[in-house]
Amino acid sequence: MRPGQVLRQAGPLLSYSWLGYRARRLFWRPLALDFSGQHWVVTGAARGLGQALTLQALRAGARVSAVGRNLASLQQLQDAARAQGTPQLQAEVCDCALQSAVEGLVRRLAGGPAPVDVLVHNAGQLQHRLTLTAEGREASFATNLLAPWLLTEGLAQAGALTAHRPLVLCMASEGGTRQPLDLARLHIRDPARYRGLQAYGQHKRAQIALAGHWRQRLQGQGGDAYALHPGWVDTALLRTALPGFHAARRLWLRDTAAGIDTALWLAATRPPQPAGPWIWFDRRARPLDPGAGAGPDGAALRAWLQREAGSR
Ligand SMILES: NC(=O)c1ccc[n+]([C@@H]2O[C@H](COP(=O)([O-])OP(=O)(O)OC[C@H]3O[C@@H](n4cnc5c(N)ncnc54)[C@H](OP(=O)(O)O)[C@@H]3O)[C@@H](O)[C@H]2O)c1
Repeated sequence: MRPGQVLRQAGPLLSYSWLGYRARRLFWRPLALDFSGQHWVVTGAARGLGQALTLQALRAGARVSAVGRNLASLQQLQDAARAQGTPQLQAEVCDCALQSAVEGLVRRLAGGPAPVDVLVHNAGQLQHRLTLTAEGREASFATNLLAPWLLTEGLAQAGALTAHRPLVLCMASEGGTRQPLDLARLHIRDPARYRGLQAYGQHKRAQIALAGHWRQRLQGQGGDAYALHPGWVDTALLRTALPGFHAARRLWLRDTAAGIDTALWLAATRPPQPAGPWIWFDRRARPLDPGAGAGPDGAALRAWLQREAGSR
């Protein structure tokens, strides 16, 4: 292997692994987390990063609506919340791949006792084989992109995002930083054309674009929105969807505590963000790869999502 190739491969490994996290952590101030009085909504809360974030937000005083598609897993999460002495967790069963279920969730949250202060779009999946939902949509598109859109827009329209400094976090990925947005690749239902990894990268790229839009939209309320990358974290997503990647890097993967650090830091510090598409990683805004900022503008993406949401 040439030195250039070694460096190209070693760069991401050093940065996204626990090595990068521990090296950067040496220069960080300790985080004082106080989310008391806040109502958080976390999707994909029952395991992995969502579970770690939910339990940490509870420990920092938040009340959390934990969204998952499996009641038994949510009950286990409730047990874990009780065991750490923070029972203020509301389990919300919702298959985010189904528009009808997400719309039901919006109604429940909007009709609930408290507006949403922090909305975390964490539920995510990478499917190598095309799976259609009962509503006829490709499941990863519906989960990774349409659900965050429906949930955020639905809550905002219902006036259920708090009037004071609401926050939206999108658990995106470095996979979304390498390619320009391509509307034609967001929702492919033809098995011959479907490429799971490419679709996942496009969904994450679109999340980065949406975070920019929500940031502007929430500015009037003093609100913020950020897209972030958790690093390479040892979770079921990597184990099941990318087993070769997981096996080759398993000694280097971060634990979930490291994976949620930037989300917690963003929620606690609300840093300013330069204009344009950025992804936050290890407490810093990082630009996308050269060329990945090209493609249709945010307005085109929003119009496209609006049409898609209306097509059911
Ligand atoms: N791990 C990494 O290295 C990494 C890197 C970059 C970005 N991310 C992002 O981080 C987020 C969390 O992933 P993770 O690593 O923690 O993986 P994970 O352990 O597989 O967690 C994914 C979560 O999403 C939920 N989910 C998937 N489809 C859903 C649906 N249709 N409806 C409701 N919930 C659904 C899963 O619920 P079930 O338990 O029911 O399956 C699970 O709770 C994802 O958005 C992922 O893309 C992870």
